[in-house]
Amino acid sequence: MSLSGKSVLLIIGGGIAAYKSLELIREIKKRGGAVHAILTKAGSEFVTPLSVASLAGEKVFTDLFSLTDEAEMGHIELSRSADLVVVAPATADLLAKMAHGLANDLASTALLATDKRVLVAPAMNVRMWTHAATTRNLATLKKDGVLFVGPDEGEMACGEFGPGRMAEPLAIADAIETALGSKPSGKGPLSGKHVVITSGPTHEPIDPVRYIANRSSGKQGHALAAAAAAAGAKVTLISGPVSLPDPHGVKTVHVETAADMLGAVEHAMPADLAIFCAAVADWRVKTEAKDKIKKQKGAPPPSLALDPNPDILATIATRKKGRPALVVGFAAETTDVLTYAKGKLASKGCDVIVANDVGAGTEVMGGDANIVHLVTVRGVETWPKLPKTEVATRLIAEFARLLPKKS
Ligand code: C5P
Repeated sequence: MSLSGKSVLLIIGGGIAAYKSLELIREIKKRGGAVHAILTKAGSEFVTPLSVASLAGEKVFTDLFSLTDEAEMGHIELSRSADLVVVAPATADLLAKMAHGLANDLASTALLATDKRVLVAPAMNVRMWTHAATTRNLATLKKDGVLFVGPDEGEMACGEFGPGRMAEPLAIADAIETALGSKPSGKGPLSGKHVVITSGPTHEPIDPVRYIANRSSGKQGHALAAAAAAAGAKVTLISGPVSLPDPHGVKTVHVETAADMLGAVEHAMPADLAIFCAAVADWRVKTEAKDKIKKQKGAPPPSLALDPNPDILATIATRKKGRPALVVGFAAETTDVLTYAKGKLASKGCDVIVANDVGAGTEVMGGDANIVHLVTVRGVETWPKLPKTEVATRLIAEFARLLPKKS
């Protein structure tokens, strides 16, 4: 079974969606997993410790200061003995506590003490979900590497409509499986393969405080790394400066400039598959100023002399020795997307170009969805608009098919 041998610490917060957590416990157990549960004081207003314990088949923990609970399994052990901590429903209050590191009850203390990954399924009124404070807390938690599932959009118990409904138990159980299964398992279409992926922008320094950059978020490259790991590959992700957590089960190397990125890619070789998704700066400043460039009264603005950066994709794709069996480039264009993409396929020497339109109004750069065209010598295949994570899964499956059988 998909969760067999895995143990989940489920924290049930105080929301009407708490009743769905009972169904979630049933689903985790059906998939072979074990559940320990913490019920917050507010959570116990919606479901009883007895119903949770009956379904989990384990004692439910409720109180930080309970002598019997602490004697049985202290909160530190409780927070670390599981493979994954899941908060469902995660109320606005629980998310705020997590974002600020508060630890004033058993649930928040376990969340602060854990050294395991945390998956949260938010559930709250739509106004609470869209409030600036919740938005800030979410950004903090995402930066900390907390995983999210949902919320869904729909009619709520309070009568309002919008995002804030807790994800369905089946979707949460799937997210638990993904979180626990995203480590290279050695199984899957890329098992035994080494995949090198570049992601994000590069920063090219002008002086100690200024740099040239671009709008790449790294979302597509990081999603590709996670998808390749889920497909069983050993993955090295070489990332420019992004505000995303390192994907689970992936070796992530952080770089700043194009020159550093090329160095890290060469260091990571050999690879079976190389995917160059980063938006590498085409130019760098010829001479980086040692000190901050100062404004001079009456003087014209400084002009920047630029040098071209090395083309990492072309360098690796045209290697005489040790070329990866499949080399993939990306082409982000604002006009004539396919014409430029076909030109790049030839000029860079790669096997596939994944082209996308990043023109004004497409919201592709920095956004969560993408429309891609797969360009190979055999022709062009255009995919519908899909979430970047889904694009990543499909691309990885496609690259696994295109990979020569003996690489
Ligand atoms: O030439 P252009 O920047 O449009 O090419 C895009 C493709 O080339 C992307 O795959 C990008 O990661 C890669 N590239 C690179 N090194 C550069 C410039 C682009 O690897 N210096």
